[in-house]
Amino acid sequence: DTADLVDRFGRVAHDLRISVTEKCSLRCTYCMPAEGLPSIPKSDLLTAEEIARLVGIAGRDLGIREVRFTGGEPLTRADLVDIVARSAAAAPGLDLSMTTNGIGLDKVAARLVDAGLGRVNVSIDTIDREHFARLTRRDRLPAVLAGIDGAVRAGLGPIKLNAVLMRETLDDAPALLAWAVERGLRLRFIEQMPLDADAAWRRANMVPAAELLEVLSRRFTLTEPGRDDPSAPAEEWRVDGGPATVGIIASVTRSFCSACDRTRVTAEGTVRSCLFGDDETDLRTLLRGGASDQDIADRWRAAMWGKQAGHGISDPGFVPPERSMGAIGG
Ligand code: GTP
Ligand code: 5AD
Ligand code: SF4
Repeated sequence: DTADLVDRFGRVAHDLRISVTEKCSLRCTYCMPAEGLPSIPKSDLLTAEEIARLVGIAGRDLGIREVRFTGGEPLTRADLVDIVARSAAAAPGLDLSMTTNGIGLDKVAARLVDAGLGRVNVSIDTIDREHFARLTRRDRLPAVLAGIDGAVRAGLGPIKLNAVLMRETLDDAPALLAWAVERGLRLRFIEQMPLDADAAWRRANMVPAAELLEVLSRRFTLTEPGRDDPSAPAEEWRVDGGPATVGIIASVTRSFCSACDRTRVTAEGTVRSCLFGDDETDLRTLLRGGASDQDIADRWRAAMWGKQAGHGISDPGFVPPERSMGAIGG
């Protein structure tokens, strides 16, 4: 379909990720500086109404099928329920989800479900409280666990868990997996990408998926790796014969850029087609300047056409993007 979001490499975007804030209740070292990201002036943030308008255009005119709200931490936005409700109304039939650190999720999970949110992915890197506090620079593991429980109770599922692979917490991986399997939660481990604010990422220090597999194999039997669909970032392994699985998102050592089906909108209303592409296309000025839905859709298509082939992390001369993960929204 020529109306869809297509790039020069023939990839089509069906999956939209919208960052709704740069603020976060944690300070994970792989994502944010200790002091947090510079605050975005309120008037620069897209409003709930503007987000919903973009979701409507994406769903109606651009072939988007799934919308994921990210951050920063989406739950730090006071009008999150309103964002979800307006988005659900703007594009009925779209699959709405959120990636969150879980803090405070227990308090709003039921309202998010009522507003139309289908499922959540919760980031949790270790279930060792001290290690969690060191990695996230906040002693909030109990709040995360309460958030996960609350999401289960509210029927937000199937819940997936995300754990970024870090050397400091690698030995905690088997315990985290056992914990997740016991609760029927789908854990995925993610290779760390150079998206930290301090530019401390080094290829040599990063934990590759192969090393995780070695650690997990000491305790579990992992078999039959496969993907839910070719564009899914995670390769799923069966744990001890199943039905439980563990996912591995090997963004660095087994890049899935050639099957990427994502487009992104930042909290300030720019399209950022690739996590690693610093050129962004401003939609906010159009939204606020009386542009038609068609003008906005056209600008978005043009942005997609400029999408780069891949992250290029392994290329000589690779330069990490200016914005850290917390500002792009994963
Ligand atoms: P599901 O539909 O539930 O599978 O969501 P997801 O895995 O796409 O989303 P989630 O927000 O849970 O992201 C999990 C990890 O995948 C994060 O570390 C993301 O940064 C990474 N990821 C998501 N999209 C991309 C992408 O386009 N490129 C790369 N390199 N990594 C991505
Ligand atoms: N590399 C890989 N994943 C990251 N995330 C945040 N920063 C990084 C990084 N540098 C993860 C978060 C969250 C998801 C949206 O992205 O843990 O689960
Ligand atoms: Fe916050 Fe998520 Fe970044 Fe951690 S990874 S600092 S939870 S936005």
